[in-house]
Amino acid sequence: MSMPATSSDRAKVVSKLPGWLRQNLKIRTAQLGIEIQTAVEQGITAWCELASASTTIDTAGAESFSTFLPPGQWEAFRKVAEDRRVSLIQGLAQSVQLWLDTHPAPDVQRPAITRRIVVCNQKGGVGKTAITAGVGEALSEDSNRLFPVRVAKALASALRADEPDEAVVETDPLDVEKLPGPGLRVLLVDFDPQCHLTNQLGAAPLAMNGDSLTNHMAGDPKGELKDLIVSIDDDHFGGRLHLLPACHDAFLLDVRLSAVRAREAALERALLPLEADYDVVIVDCPPSLGLSMDAAAYYGRRRDSEGPGQSGALIVVQAEDSSADAYDLLTNQIEDLRNDLALDIDYLGIVVNLYDGRRGYIATSSLQGWIDIKDPRVVGLINDLKEQKEAVRMKQPLLSYAPASQQAIAMRALAREIS
Ligand SMILES: Nc1ncnc2c1ncn2[C@@H]1O[C@H](COP(=O)(O)OP(=O)(O)OP(=O)(O)O)[C@@H](O)[C@H]1O
Ligand SMILES: [Mg+2]
Repeated sequence: MSMPATSSDRAKVVSKLPGWLRQNLKIRTAQLGIEIQTAVEQGITAWCELASASTTIDTAGAESFSTFLPPGQWEAFRKVAEDRRVSLIQGLAQSVQLWLDTHPAPDVQRPAITRRIVVCNQKGGVGKTAITAGVGEALSEDSNRLFPVRVAKALASALRADEPDEAVVETDPLDVEKLPGPGLRVLLVDFDPQCHLTNQLGAAPLAMNGDSLTNHMAGDPKGELKDLIVSIDDDHFGGRLHLLPACHDAFLLDVRLSAVRAREAALERALLPLEADYDVVIVDCPPSLGLSMDAAAYYGRRRDSEGPGQSGALIVVQAEDSSADAYDLLTNQIEDLRNDLALDIDYLGIVVNLYDGRRGYIATSSLQGWIDIKDPRVVGLINDLKEQKEAVRMKQPLLSYAPASQQAIAMRALAREIS
C-alpha cells in the first residue's frame, strides 16, 4: 500500500483487488455513469461507517488496483481496518462489494410503445439487411457486459460538415468507449422475399406451403405468427434477439395485398399481436417501392401518444451518385403516404454504408451531399470492411463474429444514435 502521487484534489492510492470484483465495479459504474474513484470513495465511506467489518471476501489472486481518493480518506480507512483487524486488501474488497450491493444495476430502459424501425431503400445492395441485423444485434446486447462503442463525438468529427476531405473515418482507439449493452428485446422481421436476413443469420426460410408473414398479411393465416419466430442464440444477446424468417412466397405479396382491405395496415395488423414481447421491431425491407413498402412505412408511422423519432424509416444509402436518385424516389413515396393518409412518418436518419474515403472525391463529396440534407440527418457511417462479408459467409451475426471490429463498434454507435 502506498500513496506515490497526488492529483489536484485527490491522492493516488495503489492497492489490490480481485479481478472479478474489479470487473463488476467497472461494469456497474459504467451502467450508472459514475466514475470508479467516486464509487470506491463512497464504498470506503460506507464501510467505515458500518458497526463492524462485513462478510469476508476471497481476495486470493488479487491484482494491483489504483484509484484516486480525497486526501486523508485512505489514512482514516487504514485506521478503521486496523481496529477491525482486517487487511487493507480485505477492507477495500469489502468496501467495493458494499458499494455494489447498495448500487444495483439499473433496470433496462424499455419504451412504453414498442419501437418500429423500418430499414428501407428500393436500391439494391446498399446494406439494408446488414444494417437491420447490426442495429438489432447492438440493441439486444447484454446490459451486464461492456462492449466497445464509437462515442458520439467521434461520429460528429468524422462527419464534420465543413471539411469533407476529413470525412474519412478511421476510428481512433481513444474515441472508443466501453459501454453496457442496451439489453432490449428485439424482433428482426425479414420482409424481403430474397430471404437474405434469414439466410445470413443462419436460419432457414419458411417452407412455401406452410405459414408465413405473407399469409398473415393477406388475411389467410395458418397458425400463430409467433410460432414462426426463431431465437438468434449467442450469449451476447441472451435470448433477446429474435427473427421472423421470410418465405419466398413474399414475391407474391403485392398481388395478394391488392385484394386486402386497408392494405397499408396489413403489416401492422399482422405484427401487432407480437409487439407485447418486444421493445423494438426492425423491418428489413426488400429493394422495391411496391405495396409492401407502403405497408412497412405505415407500420413505422408515429402512433398516438408516441414521441417523435421513436419509430420511423431508417434509410440506408451509399456515398455515390446513383444513391441520390433512389433516395428522392423513396422519400417521395413516403411523402405521398404521409399526405394521402394523413400520417406522421418520421425519418430516423440516413445511414451511409459501405463507405471508403479512399475512393476519393466521389465518395467524400457524396457523403457531404448526405450530410447537407440535415433533415433527416446522417446517423451512421459504416465503412466498407471485410468483417461484414465474412460474417455473412459464416452465417453469423456480425456482433458475435467480430464483436470488436470497427463495423461492430459503428453499429453500436448507430443503434445508440437512433435510440
Ligand atoms: N459495411 C459493409 N462492409 C462490407 N460489406 C458490406 C457492408 N454492408 C453490406 N455489405 C455487403 O454488401 C452486400 C449487400 O448488403 P445487403 O445485403 O445488406 O444489402 P441490401 O440493401 O439489403 O440488399 P438488397 O437490396 O438485395 O436487399 C452483402 O454481401 C453484404 O454482406
Ligand atoms: Mg436486403
